[in-house]
Amino acid sequence: MPELSVVIVATDNEQRTVLQVLVDGTSVARTAHTCASFPVAAADPIMRRVQAANPDVVMVDIPPDNSALAMRAIELLHQELDECAVFAIGTLNQPQLIVNAMRAGAREFIERPTTTTDLLEAFVRLTTAQRRVQKEGPRGKVFTVVNAKGGSGATTVAVNLALALQSAHGNTVLIDLAPLGHSALHLNLKPLFNLADATRNLHRMDSSLLESFMTRHPGGLQLLAGSNTPTAIEPSTTEFVRLFDMLVSHYRYVVVDNSSRLDPASRLVANLSECVLLVACTDVASLWSAARVQQYLGESGSRERLRLVLNRFRKVPGFSETDAENAAGVKLLWRVPNQYFAISSAIDRGSPVMEQSHTEIARCFSGLAHELTRNDVDVKRTAWSLFKTV
Ligand SMILES: Nc1ncnc2c1ncn2[C@@H]1O[C@H](COP(=O)(O)OP(=O)(O)OP(=O)(O)O)[C@@H](O)[C@H]1O
Ligand SMILES: [Mg+2]
Repeated sequence: MPELSVVIVATDNEQRTVLQVLVDGTSVARTAHTCASFPVAAADPIMRRVQAANPDVVMVDIPPDNSALAMRAIELLHQELDECAVFAIGTLNQPQLIVNAMRAGAREFIERPTTTTDLLEAFVRLTTAQRRVQKEGPRGKVFTVVNAKGGSGATTVAVNLALALQSAHGNTVLIDLAPLGHSALHLNLKPLFNLADATRNLHRMDSSLLESFMTRHPGGLQLLAGSNTPTAIEPSTTEFVRLFDMLVSHYRYVVVDNSSRLDPASRLVANLSECVLLVACTDVASLWSAARVQQYLGESGSRERLRLVLNRFRKVPGFSETDAENAAGVKLLWRVPNQYFAISSAIDRGSPVMEQSHTEIARCFSGLAHELTRNDVDVKRTAWSLFKTV
């Protein structure tokens, strides 16, 4: 991730200093300039100084006692600085203030008191969005699999989805972020290295070092194995940003088994994802939990990326799929049939159901992979050329 240049506009001296420390603490941005007063017109000398700093982001602190001047400044900065995003900082207890700031052109509204994680997440959202617009080189897509509650089937979905993507398109990696990683067991692999080794060595990471931490499955899928002890040292949010930045520049599809992990890192990874698959079953406790997880991940901006996967699916009389969607608050993407014997014996043998081609369950995961990649340009092209040769 390139370093972002930030200008801070805050009339309160203490707040200006705090914001500067927080911005510099993210390690993905640095403060290029600070202003102690708001610009009031396009020709204002303050405006010229901000322009001279050539910022990627201008952060405007909205003082509780004088929001009108801050709103005018947001509007001006948004109008006058073409390629720059304006972030508003303020209290969340005045909804009208948030609406006004967004209408004036703020791209993000960040709560005061602000944390480094809040800023880091906003910076990551910005660069991810910019990348989509710039289309700079081919970047991989991240699909994250989260369970509504323990044992719902996240690892089963992640492992088989990754195998399906590898078989259809190649160049796929599975990252095990679960609190205790099971995916190596599902794949019958014995990893020498894991996620902790990769994050410990991020400072000297290049493509060959990244590959050396992976464990290769016979079909070509690469696995960055998870932790095998519950007490492993957790990577920081900044380290996750760096790691995922490397992963999407090396792999076409990155599947994340997040299982039941719910912490700032999982929120961040959800934000970096193209789609977050929330795996739940159709029982009351599972759907109740799905709604809570949806809320937790949604609060940090991932709501529109969340999709429901109903696992162990079977028709329940009097309970429709719309009821499940309403209970979880997430749109349904896929159903995985209830096949306890096939799935549990596949896990015990370390031979995932995707390897048993032509079975209903293998077709189900191929279908999910197809659904998630249907809009990818080169996938479409392949489908077209196949059609032409028939
Ligand atoms: N479609 C299915 N039909 C029947 N049983 C299933 C199905 N999917 C998963 N299971 C069973 O559920 C169990 C839990 O699955 P899995 O380990 O994938 O869940 P998880 O959400 O990753 O759990 P954890 O909380 O441990 O991370 C498995 O042992 C498997 O036997
Ligand atoms: Mg799991």
